[in-house]
Amino acid sequence: MTILVFDSGIGGLSVLREARMLMHDHRFVYVGDDAGFPYGDWDGEALTRRMVGLFETLIEQYQPQLAIVACNTASTLIMPALRERFTLPFVGIVPAIKPAAERTASGLITVLATPGTIQRPYTQELVKQFASHRQVTMVGATRLARLAEEHMQGLPIDTELLRAEIAPCFVERDGRRTDIITLGCTHYPFLVNEMRKLAPWPVDWLDPAEAVARQARTVLAREALVPDTANPTHDIAIMTSGSPPSTIVRLLVGLGLQLQSQSFPSLAQGGSSAEQGKTPV
Ligand code: DGL
Repeated sequence: MTILVFDSGIGGLSVLREARMLMHDHRFVYVGDDAGFPYGDWDGEALTRRMVGLFETLIEQYQPQLAIVACNTASTLIMPALRERFTLPFVGIVPAIKPAAERTASGLITVLATPGTIQRPYTQELVKQFASHRQVTMVGATRLARLAEEHMQGLPIDTELLRAEIAPCFVERDGRRTDIITLGCTHYPFLVNEMRKLAPWPVDWLDPAEAVARQARTVLAREALVPDTANPTHDIAIMTSGSPPSTIVRLLVGLGLQLQSQSFPSLAQGGSSAEQGKTPV
């Protein structure tokens, strides 16, 4: 059984890690749309068009039985369009606002995500529905996903930039302080140790990756999708640029993924990101 895990880059590996642990008998195809990275500043319509085009190729080519959209920026936008267009089940990831609102002791929580995720009506609705009795700070970080990609590749990162990106997450009000920060981007768990060191006070950092993997396993069971143990195959990785830097290749191979090249007719037709309508949200 093939499970597709999709992100704008290598951040979705935080979800793949959990999914492989819970569903180790299945074959995984990891797809990073590095040619479109970062997704945080794409406008909604252009991103929907782009992703539907990519999934058309991926589904035809790899015949997955389940797809995990391991990207909050995409999931908070595109799940209805994917479910309408394709018949396989999709599982998405969204910021863990409900658990944060339930667990906070101080009543002050922060959603840290890309500007795209922060602005989505879907995210605003989650806050209204589950956290209206809490004080919620929404932080749209413009450079954090890129910092995470650099860090994951073993490159040195700018600590002062990281400190500045997370500074608005920490709020003090009437003697109370933010005590939970929900990681609303799959790239951020890879930076959590560095963020912890730079935090002005300790907080809980909530990562929904494991919950998403559990949800995917529930869907597999519900659909009675069982592993094809007779035909063992390698997990593979595809980067849409076709030419990821050697640091990313090493990372993927080190995780036991075979890098495979794949052409995407929809990208060739649309030309560059700018021609496809990549505009700031
Ligand atoms: N990893 C993605 C997310 O969960 C987005 C990073 C980006 O492309 O800006 O939102």
